[in-house]
Amino acid sequence: MKVPAPTLDTWPEQAIRGDRIVGSRYTSQNFMEQEWEGMWTRVWLLLGREAEIPQAGDWQMEPVGREEILMVRQQDSSIKAFYNVCQHRGNPLVDEPKGSNPRRFVCRYHSWAFLPDGALQFVPDREDFPEGNPCGKLRLAELRCETFAGFIWVNMDPNCQPLRSYLGPIWDEWNAREVGDWQRTMANTVWLPCNWKAVLDNFNESYHVPTVHMGATPSTDRTAIAGGINTYFKETRFDLADEGHARMIMKGGYGAGVTDAEGKIAEPLASLLAYWSLDPDQLHRQAR
Ligand code: FES
Repeated sequence: MKVPAPTLDTWPEQAIRGDRIVGSRYTSQNFMEQEWEGMWTRVWLLLGREAEIPQAGDWQMEPVGREEILMVRQQDSSIKAFYNVCQHRGNPLVDEPKGSNPRRFVCRYHSWAFLPDGALQFVPDREDFPEGNPCGKLRLAELRCETFAGFIWVNMDPNCQPLRSYLGPIWDEWNAREVGDWQRTMANTVWLPCNWKAVLDNFNESYHVPTVHMGATPSTDRTAIAGGINTYFKETRFDLADEGHARMIMKGGYGAGVTDAEGKIAEPLASLLAYWSLDPDQLHRQAR
């Protein structure tokens, strides 16, 4: 049985300005600082999956540039985000990427303790502070945090626009595909010795796909490669939303070399699918 192709709303056509992108944008320390001040600290950042911190007190910590951001599930099931910084002398509150502190976070420098909602609950020798007991007055520095489509979104700009208007058409499209019910089964982090934009540039073009992803080898006649993925750039759709988000839509399928002579999904993809609890034979039958 063939799976019906999803329908996609058209995004408005954008005028191409044809500006030249200078190479220094990829190498300049100064430009990187401008990106940090003008972009990374002002946009909504997608930092986690809600399902991975399900219980009150569960937390996840993500480094973002020079900052570390701590996301904590609350008693009322909402999620709050804080800088991972103790409000005494700036020690990191947690060092691990994930954990659960249903009662409180205790700093390992002088034992100040913060509740999961960020309030300072306990300090040793509080009667010795000339300004008075800081408990109940100090809180962890909180960031804007929203949840949508099962993801946790954080923004370092206290005056940022709401997530929904930031996402524009992505909001309705992800809702239509019920992304909130999807489960992450695998996560990979890859550190590359290059500017972050080099990676995004790669995802914004399909020109490389027949060479890199279709099983081509040095001995392959690359002009004769035929796979189930339609990679021809004129039939690949690239959209840019008014809000600045980009998307690429390509007819999916299997690349050359992914199936055997009978069309069954071969290794290593078969094992990968099994890892995701997907049956390669069932997918093969559905695709016929
Ligand atoms: S820095 Fe955290 S308790 Fe002192």
